[in-house]
Amino acid sequence: MKGIILAGGSATRLYPLSKAISKQIMPVYDKPMIYYPLSTLMLAGIREVLVISTPRDLPMFEELLGDGSRIGMKLSYKVQLVPNGLAQAFVLGREFLNGEPGCLILGDNMFYGQHFGHMLRDAVESVQKGGACIFGYEVADPRAYGVVEFEEEHNPDLHGGKETVLKVKSLEEKPAEPKSNYAVPGLYFYDATVCEKAANLKPSARGEYEITDLNKIYLNEGTLKVKLFSRGFAWLDTGNCDSLLEAGNFIATIQNRQGFYVSCIEEIAWRNGWISTEQLAALGKEMKTAYGRYLERIAAKGF
Ligand code: DAU
Repeated sequence: MKGIILAGGSATRLYPLSKAISKQIMPVYDKPMIYYPLSTLMLAGIREVLVISTPRDLPMFEELLGDGSRIGMKLSYKVQLVPNGLAQAFVLGREFLNGEPGCLILGDNMFYGQHFGHMLRDAVESVQKGGACIFGYEVADPRAYGVVEFEEEHNPDLHGGKETVLKVKSLEEKPAEPKSNYAVPGLYFYDATVCEKAANLKPSARGEYEITDLNKIYLNEGTLKVKLFSRGFAWLDTGNCDSLLEAGNFIATIQNRQGFYVSCIEEIAWRNGWISTEQLAALGKEMKTAYGRYLERIAAKGF
C-alpha cells in the first residue's frame, strides 16, 4: 500500500501568514503541520509516500523530509502546477502508484485518538480486497466539507474503532443544506482502480476535480465503505488562524499532560521496526530541543 500527501493550494484563508510559505509547513505546536498527516500514513503501515505540492513549496518539503531513509521510509515528490482539485492526486500519482491501491491524506488534516492505528489497518485491509474506504466524523456545522448521509440514524458511541459498514444514502460536496452532520475527513483509501477512475472525472461547477465525485463512483458501484469516528476522537481543523492556534494548543495539552508525543514520526518509525534504537537515539541527539531529548529518552527506555 502506498500513500499520497496532498500539500499544495494557496491557503488564502490564512493570509498574510501563508502569503510566502506553505500552510502545511507551519508549526502546529512543536512540529511542522505535515508531520501529522505523514504520521497517519505511517500508523497505517505505509512506508512509501508521494508528497504533492506547488512548484514554490515542494523544495521546502524535500528539505524537511528528504528521501525518507532517515526514518526508514521512501519519500518522493511531485509538483501540482494548478490546484484544480483533490482527485488530481491520482492523476499526478498514477506512475507512483503503478497499479497498486493507494491512500490519500490532505496535508492539513490532523487526527488523534485511541484505536486509530487499528482503524487505519482495517481500512488498508479492506481496500486491498477492493473498493474504497472513507470516514465520517460528526461536526456541528458540516457545510464546509464533503457530507455523507446514511440510510439510518446512528449512535456515535457504538461505532468508534469498530468495523461498521454503514449504508450510505448520499454524498455531497459542501452542501448549503447538509442532509446530515457527518463530514468526510481528508483521508481516503482506494483500491487499484482509483487512477483509472480519477482520470475519467469531469471538473465540477466550481472547476475542480472533486474527491467527492471520485467517492461517488465507488458509491454507485456499491464498493464504498464509510467508517465512523467515535465522539472521543479528534479530527482537527487548521483552516483559519483560530483553528490553527487551537490545534497547536490541543497538541501541547496532550503532550505536556501525558509526556507522550503526538505524531512524532521518528518514534512511529521506531515502533514500526523501520529504524533501530541506535538510529532513534542518533536522531534525537541531533536536535538540542525537548523533541530531541524525547527521542533519546524513549530510545534509552527501549519501549
Ligand atoms: O478537510 C476535509 C475536506 O477537504 C473534505 O471534507 C472535502 O470533501 C474536500 O473537498 C476538502 O475540502 P476543503 O475545502 O478543505 O478543500 P481545499 O480546497 O481547502 O483543499 C484541502 C487541502 O488540499 C488544502 O490544504 C489545499 C490542498 N489542495 C487543494 C486542492 C484543491 C491541494 O494541494 N491541491 C488542490 O488542487
